[in-house]
Amino acid sequence: KEFLIGGHQKVDIPLIGLGTWKSGPDTVSKAVETHLTQTGSTHLDCAWGYGNEADVGRGIKASGKDRSEVFITSKLWGTWHKKVEAALDDTLAQLGTDYLDLYLIHWPIAMNSTDPKNGPLIPLLSSGVRDIDHDWDLRRTWTQMEALVASGKVRSIGISNFSEKNLKKILPLDVLRARYPGETFPDDIVETKIIPSINQLELHVYNPQHALVKRMSEFGVRAEAYSPLGSGDQSVLEDEVVVEIAKKHGLAPADVLIGYLIKKSIPTLPKSVTPSRIVSNVKGALDAREKLTDADVEALDKLAGEGGKQKRFIMPPWPVDLGFENWG
Ligand code: A2P
Repeated sequence: KEFLIGGHQKVDIPLIGLGTWKSGPDTVSKAVETHLTQTGSTHLDCAWGYGNEADVGRGIKASGKDRSEVFITSKLWGTWHKKVEAALDDTLAQLGTDYLDLYLIHWPIAMNSTDPKNGPLIPLLSSGVRDIDHDWDLRRTWTQMEALVASGKVRSIGISNFSEKNLKKILPLDVLRARYPGETFPDDIVETKIIPSINQLELHVYNPQHALVKRMSEFGVRAEAYSPLGSGDQSVLEDEVVVEIAKKHGLAPADVLIGYLIKKSIPTLPKSVTPSRIVSNVKGALDAREKLTDADVEALDKLAGEGGKQKRFIMPPWPVDLGFENWG
């Protein structure tokens, strides 16, 4: 566990969490129960948009864990930017809890929707919905997130899939003025107060986003890694450098990929519904963190570098420039 700051308080975040995107309703409850009871870690990464939070909630209940022993993250889906507290209440009801440890804006994109409940992630992606509110001020979303910290329903708030360009759209005015002295910012922008504790990003050896991670850390925004194994694309798990390092230390490739990130103190969220992998993704990765040498880390750091294998696997279909390097 490590500290993160969110909402002006210190919150312990376990470094390895269970990702739940694309985990089916029947399997995710069991996966959650396995993670909570058999790994020694108790960190769940959820989202309203995954459409399976009620099933996650059943897994939490089945684990028998006390709520205080579990670290739960969820995310605000695009159709809810104008009704953040209602979105949170829906998530809390589905998960069967009365607070979150971390609540993230899922994407820097607000959508118009007459019915915010109409559109979890997977149907939205497959139907290619283009209903984006390009004029929406993300500061208005962020101030509603801040109010949730004040009310105690959320311990810490953050963002996901935000480039520096979009991070600037929610940072407090005094921070913007201090950090970007050459730019002018109008006095009448919506005032925000809290610096996001976390920016959850697609991070792995083929998409390490070194520059963004470094830039964020200057603001005190910590990177968190989703799809650390390359989201099911075998190229990362089968990469010869990764396999070589794994063999050398008697580890599995997945252990190396997760261990590499947690060695950098980046909270990491491997998704799995396979019990043996759910266990090894924590235990093997902790072992890897100890065994990986500086030279190993340097070799992994360079995999995506010049002439390397830069590759991003999660590409939502929205016609918006999200401001990331190597996008598309
Ligand atoms: P499954 O859920 O069937 O176990 P990511 O977290 O990078 O998005 O990757 C998730 C994908 O990687 C899923 O397809 C998951 O399959 C698979 N996976 C999870 N853990 C491991 C592991 N230890 N070894 C190999 N593949 C894994």
